[in-house]
Amino acid sequence: MQVANITFQFQDGQPAQTHVAAQGESVLDVALNNGIQLQHNCGGVCGCSTCHVYVVKGEDYLPEISDKEEDFIDRAVNPRINSRLACQCVVQTSQELVILVPPQDFLGH
Ligand code: FES
Repeated sequence: MQVANITFQFQDGQPAQTHVAAQGESVLDVALNNGIQLQHNCGGVCGCSTCHVYVVKGEDYLPEISDKEEDFIDRAVNPRINSRLACQCVVQTSQELVILVPPQDFLGH
């Protein structure tokens, strides 16, 4: 079942890529399944800030941000109002998401 399209844009200048996502998959899952480099030091359990991304489009379709996620975003590099942790952005419904991936060579923790 394919329910969403996620377009990944990259701050390091790589060309954008669009991939389909099934309900229940996270943005991190979709990135890793398609060979996109996105750090995930805690393994995707909201225990680090290394999967930090920016949601350019579609944030209203994502699960609400938790206090724990917010705490880790505060420790990420260059957090912004549209920052999220990719492992916590689980696809719930049919949607179009655009995600901006920060450079992967300098990270929070
Ligand atoms: S991989 Fe650690 S919070 Fe997402």
